[in-house]
Amino acid sequence: MPMIDVCAVGDIPDNGSLRVMIGDRAVAVARCDGEVYAILDVCSHADVPLSEGEVADCAIECWLHGSAFDLRTGVPLSLPATVPVPVFAVEVQGEGDSARVLVADASVSVPGPSA
Ligand code: FES
Repeated sequence: MPMIDVCAVGDIPDNGSLRVMIGDRAVAVARCDGEVYAILDVCSHADVPLSEGEVADCAIECWLHGSAFDLRTGVPLSLPATVPVPVFAVEVQGEGDSARVLVADASVSVPGPSA
């Protein structure tokens, strides 16, 4: 799986997330308690960016109806969403805020609407 350099660790707010594009896929790169995660930036309940929600306890919360998704698995932890959101492997290269964040290529790992 190709890994794509998307940002520096310091670009991601602590206990927050950043929307990045990998090909035509929006991905929320989130930072929680020192770890970096990547999840498709689309709630599985409606077409809403998860990156606009809050990050806490290794989960990202959809701002619209409040479903929280586990950043490690994409599994919804609360209703109304019931379908997991795809998550992607992350590699951090380097140390500190200037370390680079590499995310598995979401453009090839998530089926498109026509797949
Ligand atoms: S749109 Fe995300 S929980 Fe409804």
